Amino acid sequence: MKLWKGRFSKEATSSSDLFNASIPFDQRMYEEDITGSIAHAGMLAKQGIITEDEAELIIKTLGEILEDIKAGKIEFTIEAEDIHMNIESILTERIGQTGKKLHTARSRNDQVALDFRLCLRKETGEVDEKLAELLKTLKELAEQHQETVMPGYTHLQRAQPVTLAYHLLAYYQMFSRDRERFADGLKRTNRLPLGSGALAGTTYNTDREYLAEKLGFDSVLPNGMDAVADRDFAIEFLSSCSICMMHLSRFCEELILWSSVEFGFVEIDDSYATGSSIMPQKKNPDMAELIRGKSGRVYGDLMALLTVCKGLPMAYNKDLQEDKEPIFDAVDTLKNSLGIFTEMISTMTVKGENMAKAAKYGYMNATDAADYLVGKGIPFRDCHEIIGKMVLYAIGEGKALEELTMDEFKSFSDAFDEDIYDAISIVNCIKAKKSEGSTSFESVKKQIADLAGE
Ligand code: ARG
Repeated sequence: MKLWKGRFSKEATSSSDLFNASIPFDQRMYEEDITGSIAHAGMLAKQGIITEDEAELIIKTLGEILEDIKAGKIEFTIEAEDIHMNIESILTERIGQTGKKLHTARSRNDQVALDFRLCLRKETGEVDEKLAELLKTLKELAEQHQETVMPGYTHLQRAQPVTLAYHLLAYYQMFSRDRERFADGLKRTNRLPLGSGALAGTTYNTDREYLAEKLGFDSVLPNGMDAVADRDFAIEFLSSCSICMMHLSRFCEELILWSSVEFGFVEIDDSYATGSSIMPQKKNPDMAELIRGKSGRVYGDLMALLTVCKGLPMAYNKDLQEDKEPIFDAVDTLKNSLGIFTEMISTMTVKGENMAKAAKYGYMNATDAADYLVGKGIPFRDCHEIIGKMVLYAIGEGKALEELTMDEFKSFSDAFDEDIYDAISIVNCIKAKKSEGSTSFESVKKQIADLAGE
Protein backbone atom coordinates (compact mmCIF):
# COMPACT_ATOMS: atom_id res chain seq x y z
CA MET A 1 0.00 0.00 0.00
CA LYS A 2 1.28 3.46 -0.86
CA LEU A 3 1.54 5.86 2.05
CA TRP A 4 1.07 8.87 -0.24
CA LYS A 5 -1.80 7.54 -2.36
CA GLY A 6 -4.38 10.20 -1.31
CA ARG A 7 -3.73 12.65 -4.14
CA PHE A 8 -3.54 9.99 -6.84
CA SER A 9 -6.33 8.63 -8.98
CA LYS A 10 -4.34 6.02 -10.85
CA GLU A 11 -2.05 3.21 -9.73
CA ALA A 12 1.62 3.23 -10.75
CA THR A 13 2.50 0.62 -13.35
CA SER A 14 4.61 -2.20 -12.02
CA SER A 15 7.53 -1.06 -14.17
CA SER A 16 7.36 2.48 -12.79
CA ASP A 17 7.16 1.09 -9.27
CA LEU A 18 10.22 -0.97 -9.92
CA PHE A 19 12.09 1.95 -11.46
CA ASN A 20 11.22 4.24 -8.56
CA ALA A 21 12.00 1.83 -5.75
CA SER A 22 15.17 1.89 -3.70
CA ILE A 23 14.25 -0.96 -1.37
CA PRO A 24 16.46 -3.48 -3.22
CA PHE A 25 19.52 -1.54 -2.04
CA ASP A 26 18.45 0.72 0.83
CA GLN A 27 17.13 -2.16 2.94
CA ARG A 28 20.61 -2.44 4.38
CA MET A 29 19.79 0.72 6.38
CA TYR A 30 16.90 -0.96 8.25
CA GLU A 31 18.59 -0.71 11.62
CA GLU A 32 19.45 2.96 11.17
CA ASP A 33 15.87 3.65 10.07
CA ILE A 34 14.44 1.98 13.15
CA THR A 35 16.94 3.65 15.47
CA GLY A 36 15.96 7.03 14.02
CA SER A 37 12.25 6.32 14.33
CA ILE A 38 12.58 5.20 17.92
CA ALA A 39 14.33 8.45 18.83
CA HIS A 40 11.76 10.44 16.86
CA ALA A 41 8.82 8.74 18.63
CA GLY A 42 10.46 9.38 22.00
CA MET A 43 10.90 13.05 21.14
CA LEU A 44 7.28 13.38 19.93
CA ALA A 45 6.04 12.02 23.27
CA LYS A 46 8.41 14.13 25.34
CA GLN A 47 7.11 17.22 23.55
CA GLY A 48 3.48 16.16 23.98
CA ILE A 49 2.96 15.77 20.23
CA ILE A 50 1.87 12.15 20.73
CA THR A 51 1.04 10.46 24.04
CA GLU A 52 3.48 8.46 26.13
CA ASP A 53 1.37 5.35 25.56
CA GLU A 54 1.41 5.83 21.82
CA ALA A 55 5.18 6.31 21.82
CA GLU A 56 5.65 3.26 23.98
CA LEU A 57 3.62 1.09 21.63
CA ILE A 58 5.44 2.45 18.56
CA ILE A 59 8.85 1.94 20.15
CA LYS A 60 8.07 -1.55 21.37
CA THR A 61 6.71 -2.58 17.96
CA LEU A 62 9.66 -1.07 16.11
CA GLY A 63 11.91 -3.17 18.34
CA GLU A 64 9.96 -6.28 17.40
CA ILE A 65 10.13 -5.39 13.72
CA LEU A 66 13.89 -5.01 14.07
CA GLU A 67 14.19 -8.49 15.57
CA ASP A 68 11.98 -9.93 12.85
CA ILE A 69 14.05 -8.35 10.10
CA LYS A 70 17.24 -9.71 11.67
CA ALA A 71 15.65 -13.14 11.88
CA GLY A 72 14.80 -12.98 8.17
CA LYS A 73 11.07 -13.07 8.89
CA ILE A 74 10.17 -9.97 6.91
CA GLU A 75 9.79 -9.54 3.21
CA PHE A 76 10.01 -6.00 1.93
CA THR A 77 7.87 -4.93 -1.01
CA ILE A 78 8.71 -2.90 -4.09
CA GLU A 79 5.35 -1.22 -3.78
CA ALA A 80 6.36 0.39 -0.50
CA GLU A 81 9.33 1.85 -2.40
CA ASP A 82 12.03 2.28 0.15
CA ILE A 83 13.15 1.10 3.58
CA HIS A 84 11.49 4.06 5.29
CA MET A 85 8.00 3.38 3.94
CA ASN A 86 8.38 -0.38 4.19
CA ILE A 87 9.03 -0.14 7.91
CA GLU A 88 6.30 2.42 8.44
CA SER A 89 3.82 0.20 6.55
CA ILE A 90 4.74 -2.83 8.62
CA LEU A 91 4.36 -0.77 11.80
CA THR A 92 0.91 0.37 10.73
CA GLU A 93 -0.11 -3.16 9.76
CA ARG A 94 0.80 -4.24 13.28
CA ILE A 95 -0.61 -1.42 15.42
CA GLY A 96 -3.06 0.38 13.14
CA GLN A 97 -3.86 4.08 13.73
CA THR A 98 -1.07 4.64 16.26
CA GLY A 99 1.53 3.58 13.70
CA LYS A 100 0.29 6.33 11.42
CA LYS A 101 1.32 8.96 13.97
CA LEU A 102 5.03 8.18 13.76
CA HIS A 103 5.60 10.34 10.71
CA THR A 104 4.27 13.49 12.45
CA ALA A 105 6.81 16.35 12.21
CA ARG A 106 9.02 14.36 9.89
CA SER A 107 9.54 13.96 6.16
CA ARG A 108 11.26 11.19 4.29
CA ASN A 109 13.74 13.84 3.24
CA ASP A 110 15.11 14.43 6.71
CA GLN A 111 14.56 10.76 7.53
CA VAL A 112 16.71 9.50 4.65
CA ALA A 113 19.40 12.09 5.38
CA LEU A 114 19.44 10.85 8.97
CA ASP A 115 19.63 7.17 8.05
CA PHE A 116 22.38 7.82 5.57
CA ARG A 117 24.47 9.73 8.10
CA LEU A 118 23.98 7.02 10.72
CA CYS A 119 24.99 4.44 8.16
CA LEU A 120 28.15 6.31 7.16
CA ARG A 121 29.04 6.81 10.80
CA LYS A 122 28.91 3.06 11.34
CA GLU A 123 30.83 2.35 8.13
CA THR A 124 33.51 4.87 9.08
CA GLY A 125 34.03 2.90 12.29
CA GLU A 126 34.39 -0.35 10.37
CA VAL A 127 36.84 1.14 7.88
CA ASP A 128 38.83 2.52 10.81
CA GLU A 129 39.10 -0.92 12.37
CA LYS A 130 40.38 -2.39 9.11
CA LEU A 131 42.90 0.42 8.75
CA ALA A 132 44.09 -0.08 12.32
CA GLU A 133 44.65 -3.76 11.57
CA LEU A 134 46.63 -2.91 8.45
CA LEU A 135 48.77 -0.38 10.32
CA LYS A 136 49.51 -2.92 13.02
CA THR A 137 50.66 -5.41 10.38
CA LEU A 138 52.81 -2.81 8.64
CA LYS A 139 54.43 -1.87 11.91
CA GLU A 140 55.23 -5.49 12.73
CA LEU A 141 56.72 -6.05 9.28
CA ALA A 142 58.77 -2.88 9.60
CA GLU A 143 60.10 -4.05 12.96
CA GLN A 144 61.19 -7.34 11.39
CA HIS A 145 62.86 -5.75 8.38
CA GLN A 146 64.99 -3.00 9.85
CA GLU A 147 68.12 -4.67 8.49
CA THR A 148 66.66 -5.78 5.15
CA VAL A 149 68.47 -3.69 2.59
CA MET A 150 66.87 -3.04 -0.78
CA PRO A 151 67.08 -0.57 -3.65
CA GLY A 152 65.06 2.61 -3.29
CA TYR A 153 63.72 3.80 -6.64
CA THR A 154 62.88 6.97 -8.44
CA HIS A 155 61.46 6.69 -11.98
CA LEU A 156 61.52 2.95 -11.22
CA GLN A 157 65.31 3.16 -11.67
CA ARG A 158 67.56 2.13 -8.81
CA ALA A 159 68.28 5.33 -6.91
CA GLN A 160 69.64 4.94 -3.37
CA PRO A 161 69.74 2.00 -0.99
CA VAL A 162 67.08 1.93 1.71
CA THR A 163 65.70 -0.64 4.11
CA LEU A 164 62.46 -2.49 3.59
CA ALA A 165 61.32 -1.13 6.94
CA TYR A 166 61.75 2.41 5.61
CA HIS A 167 59.75 1.58 2.50
CA LEU A 168 56.97 -0.02 4.58
CA LEU A 169 56.87 2.97 6.89
CA ALA A 170 56.18 5.21 3.90
CA TYR A 171 52.96 3.25 3.41
CA TYR A 172 52.30 3.38 7.13
CA GLN A 173 52.20 7.16 6.86
CA MET A 174 49.80 7.07 3.91
CA PHE A 175 47.36 4.75 5.64
CA SER A 176 47.54 6.66 8.87
CA ARG A 177 46.61 9.82 6.96
CA ASP A 178 43.66 7.84 5.57
CA ARG A 179 42.57 7.15 9.10
CA GLU A 180 42.81 10.84 9.92
CA ARG A 181 40.87 11.72 6.80
CA PHE A 182 38.00 9.38 7.66
CA ALA A 183 37.96 10.66 11.24
CA ASP A 184 37.87 14.23 10.01
CA GLY A 185 35.00 13.50 7.61
CA LEU A 186 33.11 11.97 10.49
CA LYS A 187 32.98 15.37 12.18
CA ARG A 188 30.86 16.69 9.33
CA THR A 189 28.84 13.49 8.98
CA ASN A 190 27.91 13.37 12.63
CA ARG A 191 25.48 16.28 12.56
CA LEU A 192 21.74 15.84 12.89
CA PRO A 193 19.43 16.51 9.92
CA LEU A 194 16.27 15.10 11.55
CA GLY A 195 13.62 17.65 12.40
CA SER A 196 14.12 19.66 9.22
CA GLY A 197 10.95 18.25 7.68
CA ALA A 198 10.69 18.28 3.91
CA LEU A 199 12.77 21.45 3.53
CA ALA A 200 11.27 24.32 5.54
CA GLY A 201 11.10 22.96 9.05
CA THR A 202 7.89 21.87 10.80
CA THR A 203 5.07 23.52 12.66
CA TYR A 204 5.54 21.36 15.74
CA ASN A 205 7.35 22.18 18.90
CA THR A 206 10.08 19.59 18.32
CA ASP A 207 13.33 19.21 20.23
CA ARG A 208 16.19 18.63 17.84
CA GLU A 209 18.83 18.95 20.55
CA TYR A 210 17.23 16.04 22.34
CA LEU A 211 17.27 14.01 19.10
CA ALA A 212 20.93 14.82 18.54
CA GLU A 213 21.80 13.69 22.01
CA LYS A 214 19.74 10.50 21.81
CA LEU A 215 21.27 9.57 18.48
CA GLY A 216 24.83 10.46 19.41
CA PHE A 217 25.26 13.41 17.04
CA ASP A 218 27.73 16.15 17.87
CA SER A 219 25.41 18.94 16.79
CA VAL A 220 22.18 19.89 15.02
CA LEU A 221 22.45 21.05 11.40
CA PRO A 222 21.55 24.73 11.58
CA ASN A 223 19.69 25.07 8.27
CA GLY A 224 16.88 22.68 7.34
CA MET A 225 17.18 23.22 3.62
CA ASP A 226 20.86 22.33 3.71
CA ALA A 227 20.12 19.39 6.00
CA VAL A 228 17.89 17.66 3.45
CA ALA A 229 19.82 18.66 0.32
CA ASP A 230 23.39 18.12 1.47
CA ARG A 231 25.40 15.07 0.48
CA ASP A 232 28.86 16.62 0.97
CA PHE A 233 29.57 14.21 3.78
CA ALA A 234 28.97 11.28 1.42
CA ILE A 235 31.16 12.81 -1.27
CA GLU A 236 33.90 13.37 1.28
CA PHE A 237 33.56 9.78 2.39
CA LEU A 238 33.90 8.58 -1.21
CA SER A 239 36.88 10.82 -1.65
CA SER A 240 38.55 9.29 1.42
CA CYS A 241 37.71 5.82 0.08
CA SER A 242 39.24 6.73 -3.28
CA ILE A 243 42.45 8.05 -1.75
CA CYS A 244 42.77 4.98 0.44
CA MET A 245 42.18 2.69 -2.57
CA MET A 246 44.83 4.66 -4.44
CA HIS A 247 47.30 3.90 -1.65
CA LEU A 248 46.38 0.22 -1.72
CA SER A 249 46.71 0.25 -5.48
CA ARG A 250 50.23 1.72 -5.39
CA PHE A 251 51.31 -0.88 -2.88
CA CYS A 252 49.69 -3.64 -4.96
CA GLU A 253 51.50 -2.42 -8.05
CA GLU A 254 54.77 -2.84 -6.14
CA LEU A 255 53.83 -6.29 -4.91
CA ILE A 256 52.99 -7.32 -8.45
CA LEU A 257 56.38 -6.08 -9.65
CA TRP A 258 58.21 -7.49 -6.65
CA SER A 259 56.73 -10.94 -7.12
CA SER A 260 57.85 -11.12 -10.76
CA VAL A 261 60.91 -13.23 -11.59
CA GLU A 262 62.59 -10.02 -12.75
CA PHE A 263 62.47 -8.55 -9.23
CA GLY A 264 62.06 -11.64 -7.07
CA PHE A 265 61.75 -9.54 -3.89
CA VAL A 266 58.71 -11.29 -2.43
CA GLU A 267 56.66 -14.39 -2.86
CA ILE A 268 52.95 -14.06 -2.29
CA ASP A 269 51.54 -16.92 -0.26
CA ASP A 270 49.75 -19.61 -2.28
CA SER A 271 46.48 -18.77 -0.53
CA TYR A 272 46.52 -15.29 -2.05
CA ALA A 273 47.62 -16.21 -5.57
CA THR A 274 46.08 -18.12 -8.44
CA GLY A 275 47.22 -20.39 -11.23
CA SER A 276 46.71 -20.30 -14.98
CA SER A 277 44.28 -22.54 -16.82
CA ILE A 278 46.84 -23.19 -19.55
CA MET A 279 50.34 -22.40 -18.26
CA PRO A 280 51.17 -24.87 -15.51
CA GLN A 281 54.12 -22.88 -14.16
CA LYS A 282 52.15 -19.69 -13.44
CA LYS A 283 51.49 -18.22 -10.04
CA ASN A 284 49.65 -14.96 -10.48
CA PRO A 285 49.19 -12.15 -7.95
CA ASP A 286 45.47 -11.87 -8.71
CA MET A 287 44.42 -10.38 -5.36
CA ALA A 288 46.87 -7.52 -5.75
CA GLU A 289 45.76 -6.97 -9.34
CA LEU A 290 42.11 -7.00 -8.32
CA ILE A 291 42.67 -4.41 -5.62
CA ARG A 292 44.52 -2.26 -8.17
CA GLY A 293 41.58 -2.71 -10.55
CA LYS A 294 38.97 -2.02 -7.92
CA SER A 295 40.52 1.35 -7.14
CA GLY A 296 39.18 2.46 -10.55
CA ARG A 297 35.75 1.30 -9.57
CA VAL A 298 35.79 3.30 -6.34
CA TYR A 299 36.92 6.45 -8.21
CA GLY A 300 33.90 5.79 -10.43
CA ASP A 301 31.65 5.83 -7.37
CA LEU A 302 33.07 9.21 -6.35
CA MET A 303 32.56 10.64 -9.84
CA ALA A 304 29.03 9.24 -9.92
CA LEU A 305 27.93 11.05 -6.78
CA LEU A 306 29.69 14.30 -7.65
CA THR A 307 27.90 14.23 -10.98
CA VAL A 308 24.53 13.33 -9.44
CA CYS A 309 24.78 16.39 -7.20
CA LYS A 310 26.19 18.93 -9.62
CA GLY A 311 23.00 20.31 -11.15
CA LEU A 312 20.57 19.88 -8.30
CA PRO A 313 18.44 22.85 -7.31
CA MET A 314 17.54 23.16 -3.63
CA ALA A 315 16.35 21.16 -1.79
CA TYR A 316 15.65 17.40 -2.00
CA ASN A 317 15.41 15.88 -5.48
CA LYS A 318 14.86 12.24 -6.23
CA ASP A 319 18.25 12.17 -7.94
CA LEU A 320 19.60 11.92 -4.41
CA GLN A 321 18.32 8.38 -4.16
CA GLU A 322 21.28 7.64 -6.44
CA ASP A 323 23.63 8.44 -3.54
CA LYS A 324 23.35 5.02 -1.95
CA GLU A 325 24.65 2.50 -4.41
CA PRO A 326 27.98 4.27 -4.99
CA ILE A 327 28.51 4.55 -1.24
CA PHE A 328 27.64 0.93 -0.53
CA ASP A 329 29.74 -0.26 -3.45
CA ALA A 330 32.73 1.86 -2.44
CA VAL A 331 32.69 0.99 1.23
CA ASP A 332 32.22 -2.74 0.62
CA THR A 333 35.01 -2.69 -1.93
CA LEU A 334 37.31 -0.79 0.40
CA LYS A 335 36.65 -2.99 3.43
CA ASN A 336 37.16 -6.17 1.41
CA SER A 337 40.31 -4.82 -0.20
CA LEU A 338 41.79 -3.72 3.13
CA GLY A 339 41.05 -7.11 4.67
CA ILE A 340 42.55 -9.17 1.85
CA PHE A 341 45.52 -6.84 1.52
CA THR A 342 46.40 -7.12 5.21
CA GLU A 343 46.22 -10.90 5.07
CA MET A 344 48.27 -10.95 1.88
CA ILE A 345 51.15 -8.89 3.22
CA SER A 346 51.26 -10.65 6.56
CA THR A 347 51.64 -14.03 4.84
CA MET A 348 54.01 -13.15 1.99
CA THR A 349 57.65 -14.26 2.04
CA VAL A 350 60.25 -11.52 1.82
CA LYS A 351 63.31 -12.55 -0.16
CA GLY A 352 65.85 -10.40 1.61
CA GLU A 353 68.86 -11.86 -0.25
CA ASN A 354 67.46 -10.87 -3.60
CA MET A 355 66.72 -7.39 -2.32
CA ALA A 356 70.28 -7.06 -1.01
CA LYS A 357 71.70 -8.31 -4.31
CA ALA A 358 69.63 -5.77 -6.22
CA ALA A 359 70.84 -3.08 -3.84
CA LYS A 360 74.47 -3.89 -4.64
CA TYR A 361 74.19 -3.23 -8.36
CA GLY A 362 72.80 -0.13 -9.95
CA TYR A 363 75.36 2.45 -8.71
CA MET A 364 73.08 3.48 -5.90
CA ASN A 365 76.10 4.60 -3.88
CA ALA A 366 77.00 7.23 -6.50
CA THR A 367 75.44 10.04 -4.46
CA ASP A 368 77.40 8.87 -1.42
CA ALA A 369 80.59 8.82 -3.51
CA ALA A 370 79.85 12.42 -4.49
CA ASP A 371 79.19 13.31 -0.84
CA TYR A 372 82.57 11.72 -0.01
CA LEU A 373 84.30 14.17 -2.38
CA VAL A 374 82.29 17.06 -0.92
CA GLY A 375 83.82 15.99 2.39
CA LYS A 376 87.22 16.46 0.79
CA GLY A 377 86.42 20.06 -0.04
CA ILE A 378 85.24 19.79 -3.65
CA PRO A 379 82.02 21.70 -4.54
CA PHE A 380 79.00 19.37 -4.98
CA ARG A 381 78.40 20.19 -8.66
CA ASP A 382 81.99 19.22 -9.55
CA CYS A 383 81.70 16.05 -7.50
CA HIS A 384 78.50 15.19 -9.36
CA GLU A 385 80.34 15.43 -12.65
CA ILE A 386 83.37 13.44 -11.50
CA ILE A 387 81.20 10.62 -10.20
CA GLY A 388 79.03 10.70 -13.32
CA LYS A 389 82.13 10.07 -15.44
CA MET A 390 83.25 7.39 -13.04
CA VAL A 391 79.89 5.61 -13.27
CA LEU A 392 80.06 5.71 -17.05
CA TYR A 393 83.53 4.18 -16.88
CA ALA A 394 82.43 1.51 -14.37
CA ILE A 395 79.45 0.55 -16.54
CA GLY A 396 81.90 0.04 -19.40
CA GLU A 397 84.05 -2.16 -17.18
CA GLY A 398 81.05 -4.07 -15.83
CA LYS A 399 82.03 -3.19 -12.25
CA ALA A 400 80.26 -1.76 -9.23
CA LEU A 401 81.86 1.47 -7.89
CA GLU A 402 83.29 -0.31 -4.88
CA GLU A 403 84.93 -2.80 -7.27
CA LEU A 404 87.15 -0.12 -8.88
CA THR A 405 90.84 -0.20 -7.88
CA MET A 406 92.46 2.66 -6.01
CA ASP A 407 94.32 3.64 -9.20
CA GLU A 408 91.07 3.78 -11.09
CA PHE A 409 89.58 6.02 -8.36
CA LYS A 410 92.64 8.27 -8.44
CA SER A 411 92.38 8.65 -12.19
CA PHE A 412 89.09 10.54 -11.60
CA SER A 413 90.22 12.60 -8.62
CA ASP A 414 93.26 12.86 -6.38
CA ALA A 415 90.93 13.38 -3.45
CA PHE A 416 90.07 9.68 -3.30
CA ASP A 417 91.66 7.64 -0.52
CA GLU A 418 91.37 4.11 0.85
CA ASP A 419 88.47 5.20 3.07
CA ILE A 420 86.30 5.54 -0.06
CA TYR A 421 85.57 1.80 0.07
CA ASP A 422 84.04 2.10 3.48
CA ALA A 423 82.19 5.27 2.62
CA ILE A 424 80.35 3.70 -0.29
CA SER A 425 79.56 0.27 1.11
CA ILE A 426 75.79 -0.14 0.83
CA VAL A 427 75.29 -0.53 4.57
CA ASN A 428 77.32 2.59 5.25
CA CYS A 429 75.34 4.51 2.65
CA ILE A 430 72.26 3.77 4.72
CA LYS A 431 73.95 4.43 8.05
CA ALA A 432 75.38 7.75 6.93
CA LYS A 433 72.02 9.43 6.40
CA LYS A 434 71.66 12.06 9.08
CA SER A 435 68.52 14.03 8.29
CA GLU A 436 65.39 13.53 10.35
CA GLY A 437 63.06 10.96 8.78
CA SER A 438 65.80 9.29 6.73
CA THR A 439 66.41 5.64 5.93
CA SER A 440 69.30 5.32 8.40
CA PHE A 441 68.91 2.37 10.76
CA GLU A 442 68.75 4.72 13.69
CA SER A 443 66.14 6.98 12.15
CA VAL A 444 63.94 4.03 11.15
CA LYS A 445 64.15 2.70 14.68
CA LYS A 446 62.99 6.06 15.96
CA GLN A 447 60.24 6.26 13.35
CA ILE A 448 58.92 2.91 14.57
CA ALA A 449 59.18 3.94 18.20
CA ASP A 450 57.25 7.13 17.43
CA LEU A 451 54.35 5.03 16.10
CA ALA A 452 53.93 3.34 19.46
CA GLY A 453 51.03 5.51 20.55
CA GLU A 454 49.03 5.11 17.33
N1 ARG B 1 14.14 6.59 -1.16
C1 ARG B 1 14.33 7.98 -1.11
C2 ARG B 1 15.83 8.28 -1.20
O1 ARG B 1 16.59 7.40 -1.09
C3 ARG B 1 13.77 8.52 0.15
C4 ARG B 1 13.41 9.96 0.13
C5 ARG B 1 12.28 10.21 -0.74
N2 ARG B 1 11.69 11.45 -0.55
C6 ARG B 1 10.80 11.89 -1.40
N3 ARG B 1 10.27 13.00 -1.15
N4 ARG B 1 10.52 11.24 -2.49
O2 ARG B 1 16.25 9.38 -1.38
